[in-house]
Amino acid sequence: MYELIPVASAPELDAEAEQRFVEEWPEFIFHDEVVHQYRDRRRSYFSDWEFYLVDDTRRLIGGCWGVPLPWNGTVPDLPGGFTDSLVRSVDSYEAGAEPDTFVLMAAAVRNDEQGKGHASRVITAVKQQALTRGLTRMIAPVRPTLKSSYPLTDIAEFMTWTREDGLPLDPWLRTHIRLGATLLAPAPISQTITGTIPEWESWTGLAFPSTGTYVIPSGLATLAIDKPSNTGLYTEPNIWLRHA
Ligand SMILES: CC(C)(COP(=O)(O)OP(=O)(O)OC[C@H]1O[C@@H](n2cnc3c(N)ncnc32)[C@H](O)[C@@H]1OP(=O)(O)O)[C@@H](O)C(=O)NCCC(=O)NCCS
Repeated sequence: MYELIPVASAPELDAEAEQRFVEEWPEFIFHDEVVHQYRDRRRSYFSDWEFYLVDDTRRLIGGCWGVPLPWNGTVPDLPGGFTDSLVRSVDSYEAGAEPDTFVLMAAAVRNDEQGKGHASRVITAVKQQALTRGLTRMIAPVRPTLKSSYPLTDIAEFMTWTREDGLPLDPWLRTHIRLGATLLAPAPISQTITGTIPEWESWTGLAFPSTGTYVIPSGLATLAIDKPSNTGLYTEPNIWLRHA
């Protein structure tokens, strides 16, 4: 038996979650300046939207977090992606606007438990939470796990790639689709990450000797390096999907 529990109810799991789930993402993803500006307020307003998935011995299996926000259900009104969802959720909370939509921002399963369907348990349980708390829609700016093997491909094109059985080529999209989600739209600029060249070298373990475009480990798109201004610019593309 597995259970989705509020993070606040299990502080004894925090250290392990921090270590296990942080290592699932590339370092550069943690350097989005706007996310930094909004992080503390997000945590203070929406700490009840952070969860751990545990087994019946309270062993940590996975986790997820998200934010509530107002969305009118149309593609044009979708937030730009991950960062914009964070901004809209915090700004609308501060403006007193009523949220009607849950945005699943991130989910992770410990690496020795992946491929066993735990992500589906997380998604199903968090969707139930959202419904119980009066949010009538659930959407997600998904980071397709296979996209890093195709960093040169446009996200709108990648989104159309399917297998012979008609399901998406990307395994993480497949999990959502099997649970009844539909693909809504590409989010070509879901996050924007800028840094100096030394910062990018430390985040990726690569050297960037010249101005140019680079493929980086776990990058869903390429990194643009500009030597004269000592900057690297990466825009993370995601895919918006909506759960039934
Ligand atoms: C993405 C993630 C949450 C999926 O969790 P999961 O519990 O392993 O998901 P599932 O068991 O439903 O597996 C989903 C699909 O991924 C495939 N898969 C799972 N782990 C895999 C692995 N390590 N390598 C390759 N494929 C894998 C499964 O085979 C399945 O595809 P299928 O359609 O062929 O069955 C998990 O892999 C993870 O935590 N990744 C790191 C964090 C991340 O990228 N999160 C998503 C962005 S928010």
